[in-house]
Amino acid sequence: MCGIVGYVGEKKAQDFLISGLKRLEYRGYDSAGIVTIDEDKNATLVRAKGKIKNLEEKLAKEKRDDKIGIGHTRWATHGEPSERNAHPHQSGSIYLVHNGIIENYKELKQELGKYEFKSETDSEVLAALIDSFYQDGKYPLTNAVVQALKLVKGTYGIAVVSALNPDEIVVARSGSPLIVGVGHNETLVASDASAIVGHTKHAIYLNDGEVATIKKNSIEIKTLNAEPVSAKVEEIETNLAAIQKGGYEHFLLKEIMEQPESLTETLRGRVRTEEGIVHLGGPGLTEAELRKIKHLIIVGCGTAYHAGLLASYYIEQFTPEITVETVIASEYRYRQAYIPEDAVALIVSQSGETADTLACLREIKKQGIKTIGIVNVIGSTIAREVDGGTYVHVGPEISVASTKAFTSQVIAMVMFGLTIAQAKGVKKSVLRPYVLEIAEMPEEIKKVLGNVKDEVEKIAKKYAKYEHAIYLGRDTAYPTAMEGALKLKEISYVDANAYAFGELKHGPLALVDDRFFEVAFLPEGALYEKAVSNVQEVLARGGHVLAVTNVEEFDLPVENVVKITTSIEIFAPVLMNLVSQLLAYYMTVAKGYNVDQPRNLAKSVTVE
Ligand code: G6P
Repeated sequence: MCGIVGYVGEKKAQDFLISGLKRLEYRGYDSAGIVTIDEDKNATLVRAKGKIKNLEEKLAKEKRDDKIGIGHTRWATHGEPSERNAHPHQSGSIYLVHNGIIENYKELKQELGKYEFKSETDSEVLAALIDSFYQDGKYPLTNAVVQALKLVKGTYGIAVVSALNPDEIVVARSGSPLIVGVGHNETLVASDASAIVGHTKHAIYLNDGEVATIKKNSIEIKTLNAEPVSAKVEEIETNLAAIQKGGYEHFLLKEIMEQPESLTETLRGRVRTEEGIVHLGGPGLTEAELRKIKHLIIVGCGTAYHAGLLASYYIEQFTPEITVETVIASEYRYRQAYIPEDAVALIVSQSGETADTLACLREIKKQGIKTIGIVNVIGSTIAREVDGGTYVHVGPEISVASTKAFTSQVIAMVMFGLTIAQAKGVKKSVLRPYVLEIAEMPEEIKKVLGNVKDEVEKIAKKYAKYEHAIYLGRDTAYPTAMEGALKLKEISYVDANAYAFGELKHGPLALVDDRFFEVAFLPEGALYEKAVSNVQEVLARGGHVLAVTNVEEFDLPVENVVKITTSIEIFAPVLMNLVSQLLAYYMTVAKGYNVDQPRNLAKSVTVE
């Protein structure tokens, strides 16, 4: 969602701010802006609706050598996307960029009677509130920010500058990430490490309730209660190559194609094929604690939710006496669900910042239940707040539609399930096939991607004329169908929905006509024949079926079939999901839409 950047140092702030904002474009936004301040205390504020290139065009007439500034990409919450509502917001000499939501902004606005507000945003109210405490420099900027934040209810990551002191930026966070990059004679600010990669390898991740006063050679951090914080400087693991397209036309295709490598990273040091076991250090549960687990609750949103659902089918297969429930975070946070003591919660999130998922984590922790993170972004809020965790290590995922994270989330959760099963003394002969297939997955993914890519591209071109799609599957192929439908609707705007094959006759069969095409996932296995009968029912009604299967002798008279040739059986649905990813990608390209930044969506949903 919204992105923040900031710079104080010896170089041209405008250059860093623009390049940083471009790196944050992937998060989703609808307007952008920057402000810089020169040594004579003149501020240059430039904002534009739409893409960063619009901002750049305006900036061409406002080039400055200023050495300090802040910038923002906005994803509208309060007020339409427009230049007026774009950040930075100004009040007196104060300029502010803000991620999050100020819930009590209406009351605060009333109290700030003398101020005239130019935008409809909650953020401008915070700028005015800070200005009211700052009193044209009568008090230090940090004090004014702290006073204001003490009155605020809601979530924020903010960066504030004053035209009156052009050598410092004040940043603070509560529920919205902020990173301070420590450079040589320069200090950088970003809401996401990708904005500062390549400038410095050293960063401080602010915690909720902390305020930092940042100058080019100093960073002073305190809590809102003025207690000093000794900051830990951490190494940023991401490198420049990881956030560039590397020869691909879109990040999405790059991320689909790099799954052999990203899954290898997820498995590194965790799979012992000779012994037929997996080993996860991160969760930090003892053998006795693992043995005691009777319930697993898996919490996530979007693709992470689907990954949890798919993993739950697998975990149930090999872990006895355990119930697994996968829940949508935005629902679960308000349910009055009873969680038994012998439960463990898996908190699944690529970004580690999703507001609903984070709220569930906090709620579950309050109930004294152990929480384990399945997270990608290192140092993210969820990663830091869980009791233990397993990073999926897929590297930066830039495209809004999640692909490589899904594959690794599923396997990481299955590995956690295997860890429980091992502790509970499940026979090695039961678990070994899972472990061996997991170890083979990267190679098999590579094979499948190589074999089906061009074929799926051709099929996608044919199906690009459709506006409706039904994805179908049974058992492990059902969550696969759900994830496939999500991928298609997210980026190609096709109205795609998923159903369990068994539900067809309870409604969706009525939809089958020439406006729709159907994607049927048909993995070999006990339920294959049943699923085939369901496909027959669709065909009998004139359905336009695309079958995805690993059954060699598949001979149904469907319109198109993508055959997966692989030694993988158990995890065949995970391989079939690669077809969904490619189908969504190529259909979107054929339709001419923005693949990496679909309309209205954001990569990291940091507001409720
Ligand atoms: C957004 C993204 C999805 C993602 C979901 C959950 O909707 O566009 O791709 O699956 O959030 O995100 P998380 O970072 O928690 O996995």
